[in-house]
Amino acid sequence: MQQIKLTENIYYVGVNDRRTELFENHIELPNGVSYNSYLIVDEKVALIDPVEAGFIEEYLFKIKSVLQGRKVDYLIINHDEPDHSSSIAAVLREWPEVQVVGNAKTFAPLEAFYGPIENKKTVAESETLSLGKHTLQFFMVPMVHWPESMVTYEQTSGIVFSNDAFGGFGALNGGIFDDQVNLAFYEDDMRRYYANIVGKVAMQALKAIEKLGGLEIKMIAPSHGLVWRSNLAWVIGKYTQWSKQESEEGVVVVYGSMHGNTGVMADIVARGAAEAGIKEVKVYDVAKTEVSFIMSDIWKYKGVIIGACAHYANMFPDMTLLTHEINEFKPKDKCYGLFGGMSWSGGGVKALSKCAEEGKWNLVADSVEVKGAPIREEDWDRLYNLGKAVAEAVKG
Ligand code: FEO
Repeated sequence: MQQIKLTENIYYVGVNDRRTELFENHIELPNGVSYNSYLIVDEKVALIDPVEAGFIEEYLFKIKSVLQGRKVDYLIINHDEPDHSSSIAAVLREWPEVQVVGNAKTFAPLEAFYGPIENKKTVAESETLSLGKHTLQFFMVPMVHWPESMVTYEQTSGIVFSNDAFGGFGALNGGIFDDQVNLAFYEDDMRRYYANIVGKVAMQALKAIEKLGGLEIKMIAPSHGLVWRSNLAWVIGKYTQWSKQESEEGVVVVYGSMHGNTGVMADIVARGAAEAGIKEVKVYDVAKTEVSFIMSDIWKYKGVIIGACAHYANMFPDMTLLTHEINEFKPKDKCYGLFGGMSWSGGGVKALSKCAEEGKWNLVADSVEVKGAPIREEDWDRLYNLGKAVAEAVKG
């Protein structure tokens, strides 16, 4: 059987998930996702992070085909979240003597999910664990993505098993390593993963990157997505840029519209931004495009113009999820603008303004509220000028 090797004795034993429609049951997965796991075969055998439980048969088959009757000695838990840990019971049934390795924060949540674990080993910051020729070293990266998160560094190969960090959506389509694929295909799904999973803890992600900077890293093996061995500078550069929240020149116009009038307004706003010289103008209907895609572009671009029609005395309902996510993830370095249509007494722009106030959005232009449809020249001009003002703030 053709094994996937990172080095002579380190194997990729992860799985692809093209079945799950929603990651964490709320983020669309049009390209699937991979749950990566790695096996180090030495005097002792270590398995690094299991996979989602629904893939256990394929997973165990892959491990057994490498081990040929040997048993797993250590199961390293870099992260408790069930997309990785939910197969732990099956792994322990298969190899009951496995020692489960985690840190001081690992086991309470893990046992809350799966019940008591008898054979535990708790490791501290920088502690090492010898497997024979290979030596594992553990570094805590709290909140990337949960409080117990850590990464495991294998000293002889220079591989860092980086947990969720440096991961991305997208099943691995044959190519497992970064030099086997077209990176452009994965970049958008990596940023979407970052913006919706890691973005809330961007500062901690940056600290983790800085912490790992002291290691001699030859390969980055995350828990999702590609294994990085040839384009380390590229992926570290991208993660650093996203963690520092360095926005690119561009404007995202996103609207919620019941009968199309606020949608027409969005086009006028977008035209103003384009005429002001912005080449990257993205227009989204919040009822049609799932929020994770919009958040990904909001993370990327500096300008964000949000429009909502009134729905009773509030905003268009689908927009509330996006504004919630913005105020939860708090993307920085943005220039915001607001607009929307009134039904009989308004409410959309008022509700957006409340969100802006709560989230301390940097509003760079007066908000525009339009009665009915944008059929009066003065309304058309106000909307056009809103797009232009945000564009100029982005460029300025
Ligand atoms: Fe891939 Fe935070 O779990």
